[in-house]
Amino acid sequence: MEYKIPLFKLNFDESEEFAVIETIRSKWISTGPKCEELEEQFARMLNVKHAVSLSNCTDSLHLAFRILNVSDGDEVICPSLTFAATVNAIRYVNAVPVFCDIKSFENININPDKIEQLITSKTKAIIVVHFAGFPCDMDKIKEIANKYKLKIIEDACHGPMSEHKGKKLGSIGDIGCFSFFSNKNISTGEGGMIVTNNSKFEPRIRLLRSHGMTSLSYQRAQGHATSYDIIELGYNFRMDDIRASIALSQLKKLQNDLESRQKVRAYYLKQLSKLENIIIPFSDNKEFVSNYIFPIVLKNSTSFKRDTIRNKLHEAGIQTSVHYPAVHRFSIYKTFKIGLPVTEYVSDNEITLPMYGSLSTDEIDYICSVLNSILENVQ
Ligand SMILES: Cc1ncc(COP(=O)(O)O)c(C=O)c1O
Repeated sequence: MEYKIPLFKLNFDESEEFAVIETIRSKWISTGPKCEELEEQFARMLNVKHAVSLSNCTDSLHLAFRILNVSDGDEVICPSLTFAATVNAIRYVNAVPVFCDIKSFENININPDKIEQLITSKTKAIIVVHFAGFPCDMDKIKEIANKYKLKIIEDACHGPMSEHKGKKLGSIGDIGCFSFFSNKNISTGEGGMIVTNNSKFEPRIRLLRSHGMTSLSYQRAQGHATSYDIIELGYNFRMDDIRASIALSQLKKLQNDLESRQKVRAYYLKQLSKLENIIIPFSDNKEFVSNYIFPIVLKNSTSFKRDTIRNKLHEAGIQTSVHYPAVHRFSIYKTFKIGLPVTEYVSDNEITLPMYGSLSTDEIDYICSVLNSILENVQ
């Protein structure tokens, strides 16, 4: 079925096609000059010292834990209202996820007041997720991290160019991780980036990104190296130049796209403020944010009611999603399960409505009037 209004629309045109053709014709398609150019631009945009391109954000999170020497039995405080990759990465290094609840139905980011209660002698790091691109309470989280000497990883997948008090998300903690998956603000199909201001981390990120090898094949092709050694157990987490060239083309459109998304959100807020039985998280936000997705939370609801509403929106040709099924409820996380009442309510009663820069006011009117009439008729 083709939706009348999809959840997301890819912001692609001829510029991505030309970028790919140019790279193919250059005869260098794996990690090379386009990845370098992308890394330089990304670092500049985020005002960070280092950015390293990667195959996806899951690898970026995995590398972040390796770089911060989080390992066997270390505890990492994490949200459960996130995509599973945030938590899976903790398990890749044999560390233990310690799930922390979110603040409230209005602010669905990790709750710093709960973080402190979860700290033990084994706690090594905190990973935050800036939901939909809205900043976590980084002042309080940094204060806690400093007090207990913990590392901070920012899963900033949802928030390229989002800000917290003038700083870009991803640049506030020790390491920031980004995704360029198809439905993200910057789309390359698969792709990711890791950023840091710590110059000691950068060479090791590059090393582990490519098998622990002391040189890249592009460097050897340029005559900058003739051989290599393997000095650490690394991975193949590299991005290729074809994807990097798509990302470079996406970066040129990013600011305009984010400004359009701001207008889309503002119009949604205006139209939905008339509906009494929903909460719009982060509606008091004043920061510049990416508006990666548009979540709403139903008041006095159940997962059954939420699913009924989603089915009716589907019948009206409106695609929705749920961000997220709480990670701590998945089968593989049962042993780490703890009660997270706010997360569980939001996970059961959240609906993600369509969000993209070209979503028109007519389309938003349609979504809001369909939603309104469903809410009036569903028990
Ligand atoms: C919050 C969050 N973390 C991590 C990921 C994983 O990103 P990737 O698909 O690039 O590995 C995603 C992707 O959906 C995400 O939304």
